[in-house]
Amino acid sequence: MTVENLMDKLVAHCKANGFMFQSSEIYGGLNGFWDYGPLGVELKRNIKEAWWKDMYQNHNELAQPQNAPSTYDMVGLDCTIIMHPQVWKCSGHYDLFHDYMVDCRKTKKRYRFDQVRGRWVTHDQKRVFVTTMAEPEQEQEDITRRALKLFNLRSKDIEKIQFEERVLTLDKLTSAERANLLGPDTDEIGTLTDPREFNLMFKTYVGALSGEEGAAFLRPETAQGIFVNFKNVVDSTRIRVPFGVAQIGKSFRNEITPRNFTFRSREFEQMEIEFFCHPNQSADWYQYWRNRRLQWYKDLGLDSERLRLREHEQDELSHYSCGTADIEYAFPFLPPGEYGELEGIAHRGDFDLRSHSEGKLDPKKRPLEVEVDEQGSPRHRGSGKDLTYRDDLTSERFTPHVIEPSAGADRAMLAFLCQAYTEVQSSESGGKFESRVVMRFHPRIAPYKAAVLPLVKKDGMPEIAAEIYGALKKKFNVFYDEKAAIGKRYWRQDKIGTPYCITVDSQTLVDRTVTIRERDSMEQWRVPIDSVVAEIEKRIC
Ligand code: GAP
Repeated sequence: MTVENLMDKLVAHCKANGFMFQSSEIYGGLNGFWDYGPLGVELKRNIKEAWWKDMYQNHNELAQPQNAPSTYDMVGLDCTIIMHPQVWKCSGHYDLFHDYMVDCRKTKKRYRFDQVRGRWVTHDQKRVFVTTMAEPEQEQEDITRRALKLFNLRSKDIEKIQFEERVLTLDKLTSAERANLLGPDTDEIGTLTDPREFNLMFKTYVGALSGEEGAAFLRPETAQGIFVNFKNVVDSTRIRVPFGVAQIGKSFRNEITPRNFTFRSREFEQMEIEFFCHPNQSADWYQYWRNRRLQWYKDLGLDSERLRLREHEQDELSHYSCGTADIEYAFPFLPPGEYGELEGIAHRGDFDLRSHSEGKLDPKKRPLEVEVDEQGSPRHRGSGKDLTYRDDLTSERFTPHVIEPSAGADRAMLAFLCQAYTEVQSSESGGKFESRVVMRFHPRIAPYKAAVLPLVKKDGMPEIAAEIYGALKKKFNVFYDEKAAIGKRYWRQDKIGTPYCITVDSQTLVDRTVTIRERDSMEQWRVPIDSVVAEIEKRIC
């Protein structure tokens, strides 16, 4: 199965089975926005609940896993999406959170500067950089087709043009070279503008003021709500450093080229922890969170072979970071050997608390835009509040360092969907082989935990099945199905990833036992009706 084929099939499967729909589809859709259908809602909720349970609730302060520097507490927050605009000034987002983009004067399309790829093509001493936005698998085909059209040649004339070996992105060309290029969706040379900065924050207006005084932004990350509440959290709880604050919520980024299903969307959910610790211990905590977060994905079923932890190079680091590692996954829409970011774990030092307090310059000494008053003196840009921490046992006062594991709920869900999607060959009763889909979700995140199936719709079987269904439903999301042959009903559940099917059959009428069938191994065993709930419970945790 080719890569694009697999992604097309996954997207179609998600739509047909109610995992995901394009937002506003009946009006032609809105690029970069996705709706979660009945199964998608459950899958995503289970992912977020697993994260909350494992990261927030289920850490044992008295018996830390190996290599944790000391014990710690966790608390939660739920902050607003629209915050005081000064938050974004001090965080650096107002001045630094941008992508470079180029516009096509002819088609009015906009592209991210670093995402437009192409190759130099020469014909009759004319050298043109032919670009493409096609998926990697179709890149060469698209470039060839467009080069032939540009030079007015037919397919049989392919020998008359020379392609240079390397595929380059636009940001690798000099500005003089960029004059001689063919934009991705046009047939005229030289229609792309020079790169310009494009801030990724969505702007809105608060209250009745429509002018700049009322301007505000939809948050591009949940993290800042945690930083600006640091003092509130410390003052309102008995918490002591080191501790973490967890938050799950929507973030918005006006991405120039949303792509690859939900991988890069304009509205998405983040699951972020800001972990506050003593500066002397921050290097150890950074290691701890990197390992802990990587293990979480493995425990929920992502294949170790397709996961990696990659430390950022110095020139890749964000303005706030003194070290960042990405957890990356080999998503099937990427060319072989390439990985996409699932989550970043950043060592942010004391940048955030200091910025929100003092309005400092960023650690790389890149000045944030300086506001001046009427006399031309720089305005104090921080909140002016003391965001240091005093340890009441040692009386030491310091600005805590922050380690930030920042995950995307939608991106995690996409990775779990890609990992789960499996095509198997099954033989029908007629001996014919048929290809069908099994979604091999880890039971903890599967939308339905079990399905209850009476073998036939008579002899009291539906009544017993309804009794079991009722008992299970109090604890988990369960499905009831009495229509079609039993094999078909198993396949229906495999297709949506239900890990267990419970069948009421003629033996049940004799000894009150039922069959449990496991999705991946298709193994079956019998248990008494009274132990069904416990049996499923023990297997899905
Ligand atoms: N507070 C740090 C921060 O926001 P980030 O690397 O920009 O860091 C963290 O984002 C995570 O949020 C990413 O690893 C990814 O999982 C998710 N994310 C970021 N932008 C996204 C987008 N446009 N669509 C979907 N998920 C996104």
